[in-house]
Amino acid sequence: MALTPYPAADFPQQPTALLTGAASERGIGRATAHRLGREGWAVAVLDLDAEASAEVAHEVAEQHGVATLGLGVDISDEQQVDRAVARVDAELPQLVGVVNNAGISSPTPFTEVGTEEWKRVFDVNVHGTFFVTRAAVRIFRRRSLGRIVNVSSASAERGGGVYGRAAYSGSKAALLGLAKTWARELGEYGITANSVAPGSIDTDIMGGRLSDERKEFLLQELPVGRVGTVDDVAGAIHYLLGRDGGYLTGVTLDVNGGSHIH
Ligand SMILES: NC(=O)c1ccc[n+]([C@@H]2O[C@H](COP(=O)([O-])OP(=O)(O)OC[C@H]3O[C@@H](n4cnc5c(N)ncnc54)[C@H](O)[C@@H]3O)[C@@H](O)[C@H]2O)c1
Repeated sequence: MALTPYPAADFPQQPTALLTGAASERGIGRATAHRLGREGWAVAVLDLDAEASAEVAHEVAEQHGVATLGLGVDISDEQQVDRAVARVDAELPQLVGVVNNAGISSPTPFTEVGTEEWKRVFDVNVHGTFFVTRAAVRIFRRRSLGRIVNVSSASAERGGGVYGRAAYSGSKAALLGLAKTWARELGEYGITANSVAPGSIDTDIMGGRLSDERKEFLLQELPVGRVGTVDDVAGAIHYLLGRDGGYLTGVTLDVNGGSHIH
C-alpha cells in the first residue's frame, strides 16, 4: 500500500494567500497580511473598500518586498468574487491559501433580531465565505495544493460572545462545520481546511477599541492574564496556512487565552 495515497504537491517558494476583510486599520486581516508578507507570502487583499485594500497591498509590498494585490470586493456578491479571484490567479504567484476573515457582527438578541439583519450577517459571513472558497478551490485543484482557514469565533462555541449574539454566533458556527466538511471532502485534492476561533481581540469590530473597564472585566476570565491581540490570531493563521500546517485538517484553533476551554 502506498504511504501517500493523496498527491503531495511541492510547496512553492513564493505561495500566495488571499485574505478577505484585511483592509480595516487595526483588524485581524491586516495583521495577518503583514505576518504572511514577512514570511515571504504574496498577498491578495479583498475588502469592501477598494482604496483601503490597495493601500494595505501597497504597504505590505513595500515593507516585505512581496507581490500583492488589493481589490474592492463585496464578498456577498458572487460575480464580484469570481472576477476578483480570477485576477488574483492571473496576477500573483500560485494561490495556496485562502483566509475567510471578512465578517460582520450582530449584537441583537434572538428575540429582537430582524430578518434583514439576520440575512445580511449570513450573506457576508457564510455565503461570502462559500463564494470565495469555491472560487479558490477550483484553482487549488489544478495543482493539488490548497489551505483554507475560516475565521470563526469563540462566540460560535459558547453560544454568544461578549458582544455577538444569535445571528453572529450561528453564522460563525456554520464556518466551523464548513471547514470540517471541506477537510473531509477536499483532502483528496491536497487541500486542508481549518478554523481559528478567537476570543475577544482588541479591534474595531464592536464599534471601537476595548475600554479599560471592558478589558478589566475580560481579564477575570482570562487564564493567560491579558486580552488577545491581532498578532496572536495572525500567528495561528500563518501556522495553519504554512508548510508546517499540512497535517492539520478539520481542526479549530481556539485563540482565546483560555477564556473558553472545552
Ligand atoms: N475582534 C474580535 O474580538 C473577534 C473575535 C472573534 C472573531 N473575530 C472575527 O475576525 C474577523 C476579523 O474581525 P476584526 O475584529 O479584525 O474586525 P474588522 O471590522 O476590523 O474587520 C472586518 C473586515 O471585514 C470587512 N468586510 C465586512 N463586510 C465585508 C464584505 N461584504 N466584503 C468584503 N469585506 C467585508 C470590513 O470592511 C473589515 O475590513 C471577523 O470575521 C470577526 O468576526 C473577531
